[in-house]
Amino acid sequence: MSPAISVGHAAQISLLAILFYAGWTITYNRYLHPLRSYRGPLLSTISRIPYIIAYTQGRLHLYVHALHDRYGDVVRIAPDELSYPWKDIYVRSSNFAKDMRFYQSSKKAASIVVAPEVIHRRQKKAILRAFSDSALRDHERVLLPYVDVLIEKLGAAELFGKPLGCLEEASYHPWVEVLFGTVKAWAFLAIPTFFSSAAMLLKPLVLFLCRDSLGHRDTKYRALSGHIPKGDEQKKPVFMAHVQSSSGNNPETVLLQDEMLPNYSFLMMAGSETTATLLSGCTFYLLKHPHSYQRLTSEVRQCFSAPTEIVLSSLAVLPYLHSVITETLRLYPPVPLGMPRTTPAGGAMISGRYVPEKTTVSVPSWVTSRSPSKFSSPDQFIPERWLDDPPCLNDNKAAMQPFSLGLRGCPGKSMAYMEAGLILARILWSFDLQFRQGVIGGMIIGRF
Ligand code: HEM
Repeated sequence: MSPAISVGHAAQISLLAILFYAGWTITYNRYLHPLRSYRGPLLSTISRIPYIIAYTQGRLHLYVHALHDRYGDVVRIAPDELSYPWKDIYVRSSNFAKDMRFYQSSKKAASIVVAPEVIHRRQKKAILRAFSDSALRDHERVLLPYVDVLIEKLGAAELFGKPLGCLEEASYHPWVEVLFGTVKAWAFLAIPTFFSSAAMLLKPLVLFLCRDSLGHRDTKYRALSGHIPKGDEQKKPVFMAHVQSSSGNNPETVLLQDEMLPNYSFLMMAGSETTATLLSGCTFYLLKHPHSYQRLTSEVRQCFSAPTEIVLSSLAVLPYLHSVITETLRLYPPVPLGMPRTTPAGGAMISGRYVPEKTTVSVPSWVTSRSPSKFSSPDQFIPERWLDDPPCLNDNKAAMQPFSLGLRGCPGKSMAYMEAGLILARILWSFDLQFRQGVIGGMIIGRF
């Protein structure tokens, strides 16, 4: 047999094997899979490709929303993944582990968001110190001067105690740049983990395609270590100093040395990009709704005679501000996707139905917040619904959980409300007219 024939033969056999594998996978996923009785579109029930396409295009939340509109509360969005209404996953079933195919985790020390249960418990105790009432007041002291600079320059703010200089220089710090690149690259990096049988081929390809985003990540990450408070800096009343305070005193509530960098990096993203997105959303909706804009500006102007009077403790007298922020979180949640969990060994009962083990389950924030079964006029911006004004009295407010719930829920909720509230109220007080004319708003929502 000539070598040419054997190569041809080998190609034919490979092709047949691939066709057989694909045929078998499709048949299994559609007719034999334990999730076969759950409703979903044909393509999504036989392959994860539609999910991946939507994810890498940044429109997974819209895709899942459309599926819920068509198939109801519980939808099979991929062969081994179900999407649900709230509470069924994150509260009652808090023992569900995170689906690590979605979360990109370093092989070294884990940050809080990906840490396994025991490590997570210890890290969360350390990190929660930075969210106590007194820590929030310290954070306010750090934040306020930068709000003034923001009003002056409309840039970014200092975080975690050491200035990044973004605001003064009106440019991104390399760390912030890395974050943007990494978030986009995540969707692509997930591809090999979802298609594990082809991972050896896909991984190098994805790494090559994402080389620019990931390019200088290591070098830039090293720059991060310069922002970790050391020595006397740990006594300063800044965010990370609270996390590090009493480190070593109680082994159950410390952040270990090699966990610092991954956690700082995660907190940097969790604490900055989310609140910035929320602020952009508020600006967008206020500019689109002059009535809400007028009402909020009047509230702020009537309560304070100078912007410097607007501080954390005075935000409570601004109920409409709170409603505007909450309504923005409903319509434009900074974390719009479902955070995927995996059912434990032996499976679980969810919403009264058995779900087999190792099934990925999640609750997409975007979908539940806009569900017509939970909110009247779900796509409309109506801050009044949070003041219990008619006609939204029957809204199911608990359905809206942009910070997630349960043990792995967000500890930064109060901080996000505080930062967004202070910045928005001070900007509205200071720039009433320019804001209305869209000069300032246009700059803030340039990100939309
Ligand atoms: C509008 C602003 C914010 C939104 C919408 C938001 C949303 C979320 C969500 C949905 C999760 C759950 C992630 C998961 O299940 O995997 C989460 C976790 C987390 N967020 Fe936030 N967040 C915001 C602001 C903040 C801020 C300001 C901080 C701190 C500076 C923060 C720190 C964290 C931390 C540490 C976790 C991990 C909690 C854990 O695993 O126990 N977040 N956030």
